[in-house]
Amino acid sequence: MSERPFGIDPDIRTAATLPARVYSDPALFELQRERVFARTWQYAGHDDLVRVAGQVFPFTLLPGGLDEPLVLTRDGDDQIHCLSNVCTHRGTLVVEGAGHLSQLRCRYHGRRFSLDGRFHSMPEFEETKNFPSKADDLPRVELARFERFLMVALAPATAFDDVAAAMRARVAGLPFADLVYDESAARDYLVEANWALYVDNYLEGFHIPYVHSSLATTLDYGAYAIELEPYAVLQLGIAKPGERSFALPAEHRDAGRAIAAYYLWLFPTTMFNVYPWGMSVNVVTPLAVDRTRVSFLPFVWDESARGEGAGSGLDRVEREDEAIVEAVQRGVRSRLYDRGRYSPTREAGVHHFHRLLAEFMNA
Ligand code: FES
Ligand SMILES: [Fe+2]
Repeated sequence: MSERPFGIDPDIRTAATLPARVYSDPALFELQRERVFARTWQYAGHDDLVRVAGQVFPFTLLPGGLDEPLVLTRDGDDQIHCLSNVCTHRGTLVVEGAGHLSQLRCRYHGRRFSLDGRFHSMPEFEETKNFPSKADDLPRVELARFERFLMVALAPATAFDDVAAAMRARVAGLPFADLVYDESAARDYLVEANWALYVDNYLEGFHIPYVHSSLATTLDYGAYAIELEPYAVLQLGIAKPGERSFALPAEHRDAGRAIAAYYLWLFPTTMFNVYPWGMSVNVVTPLAVDRTRVSFLPFVWDESARGEGAGSGLDRVEREDEAIVEAVQRGVRSRLYDRGRYSPTREAGVHHFHRLLAEFMNA
């Protein structure tokens, strides 16, 4: 029953929202691992994690969703790579901690790889035939950049440029090179709800006057704007008069608009929130069908602007979002609810996400 395909009408005026089971059925969450998470671009980290040649940074891609052990490396030619962190001999993890290395060496039986993943050497394999081969290299994972941020995909259904090109153009010129990661202010939130409910909520400003009283005092609700890209959504928070906004150069396409925040979402789990003070990268990690970790990672280019406007008080706004999304999770389990309808003026982003999710899940 859970495998019953579903569609989302492309016309938002006649469409119904995602069936409730998408948010609550463990079998559908299982299906999303390979059909959605493995085929899309995921946030892997920022370029300072591997700032100099020889730096390595192991991590698990989407713990709970993909659980894929990977490692970021910067080789002697200053190229950043994302490699499988699983030894091609008997499969143990190769790199166990961040550090500086000239080669990757597996501690189980001593197989060595160069920093770009190529097999280098292995003791006691002189008599092994047809060895080494391409299969003995660490598999390379596709890696792309969005400014200072590294995105990876295991089996991408789309080129990263198709996901991010329009967004890149929109924020080009902002001082990304100056960004400094503020680790002390980074927070993880555990949300007792399906990851897609968190994304749904992110993709509309409709709830701002109802759920976020503080944010509502600084944003102009009437001017809030949504733009759709093939695999992304851009929302523009417009400042009320006197509230903090970007000082954009005259040639910028948004010059003259009091932009308080650019909320960029890349399908399915990455949110780049750009404020006059810098960026809050929100990474959505689906842990289980009804549990999600949301990481708020702050990167600052102007500390003095941090306490003002739509980019301030993010912890409070997040807690308000978390509480409402957890209430939705309890609601979508109901026997008496299945699908809702959309507001064409306010929920175009949610509708777009639902169409993408349906397309990927039914593929
Ligand atoms: S598992 Fe890595 S060398 Fe044996
Ligand atoms: Fe919100």
